[in-house]
Amino acid sequence: MAASFLLLLLTSAGLFLSAQAQDCPRPAGGVNMGLKGDDVLLQAFPDGTTVAFACDVGFVSAGGSASVTCTAGSWSALRMTCDRKSCGAFDEVPNGSLDYPEGNEFGDRLTVTCNPGYNMVGNAHILCGNGGWMGRAPVCEVMYCQPPETPTIGSFYPVKEEYEYREVIQFSCPETFTLNGSKSLSCSETGVFLPAVPKCVHVDCKEPVVEFGHWVAGSRGPYTYKATVTFKCNEGYRMTNSATITCEINERWEPELPKCEAVPTDKTTTTKSPESTKKPTAVPADKTTTTKSPESTKKPTAAPDPNDGKRLYTGLGVAFAVTALVAIAIGLWRCGFLKWPMEKPGSGRGHARTVPTEEEVELGKRDDDAAAP
Ligand SMILES: *[C@@H]1O[C@H](CO)[C@@H](O)[C@H](O)[C@H]1NC(C)=O
Ligand SMILES: *[C@@H]1O[C@H](CO)[C@@H](O)[C@H](O)[C@H]1NC(C)=O
Repeated sequence: MAASFLLLLLTSAGLFLSAQAQDCPRPAGGVNMGLKGDDVLLQAFPDGTTVAFACDVGFVSAGGSASVTCTAGSWSALRMTCDRKSCGAFDEVPNGSLDYPEGNEFGDRLTVTCNPGYNMVGNAHILCGNGGWMGRAPVCEVMYCQPPETPTIGSFYPVKEEYEYREVIQFSCPETFTLNGSKSLSCSETGVFLPAVPKCVHVDCKEPVVEFGHWVAGSRGPYTYKATVTFKCNEGYRMTNSATITCEINERWEPELPKCEAVPTDKTTTTKSPESTKKPTAVPADKTTTTKSPESTKKPTAAPDPNDGKRLYTGLGVAFAVTALVAIAIGLWRCGFLKWPMEKPGSGRGHARTVPTEEEVELGKRDDDAAAP
């Protein structure tokens, strides 16, 4: 009985003791951390135990105490937090660029891209590890172009076995030939020269023939590339398009050959002046417009009046003189002083005239006209 009492006493004392100095459970810790060092191996955490935490691999303490203490069965608050480690910026890759699509912290990957004209040698992706970026940067190697085929006519410079990206070659043609295409080509990012290889062509435009027009300036031929010729229309014709033409690479004149159009002669007053004011842009040579307009205004007033008047007066004078002579002759004949030399039996009706000449007919008409008023 005494023994059982003693046992009970011991038991209750033990319960009391355990209530006074209780063990703690395994501490949980925060995210991305674990018990530090040998603390991981502990199986029991009696009252008063202090353990420390450490951040997981790739994580780093952001500050705060890493330790917790067991007091009467519970852990003190853990102050430390763990952040992902940053790998920082990667070294620059010559002729390439870096991209951090995920970020630059533990577990993230960066991507290297080579600039146009550069080829990558190595891996484009680099992982951020615990100790920083893992792996070597790739190398961006410049691209090369093979030389273009040697042209049959002409040449290029410099001549090399291969050319680096962006290297430029210049083409040239022998004299009397014209380069059709670009003079300089450059090694492109695709590894070929661009633009297309030019050709040396012989340009010889045909003799330009402008009906009712004539050459005034420019080349006399042969008409090589970019030779120009300027035409003018003959008198009484006017140009309906450009007066100057240029020999182009395809051996064609551009713009099209000038055209000379007959200018209507009679209705100069009504047709010329409005057109000459209407089409100043169509006729490139300004002189044509400036000389035309005064003529068109001068002509109608100057031409018909003074000349016609003069002709009228001289006509009248001559007619008068002839009439007087005829009258005198008739008088003389009648009086018998004069014998009509060519008188024939049938023709004479007592009139003093032979077959009248054209001039006389004219004069007679004019005489009649003059007599009328
Ligand atoms: C490529 O990199 C080299 C070395 O850094 C530099 O000299 C060169 O100018 C770069 N090329 C281009 C096109 O940026
Ligand atoms: C010049 O080059 C262009 C483009 O390649 C081509 O269409 C044309 O026919 C060439 N002209 C001559 C005269 O070779």
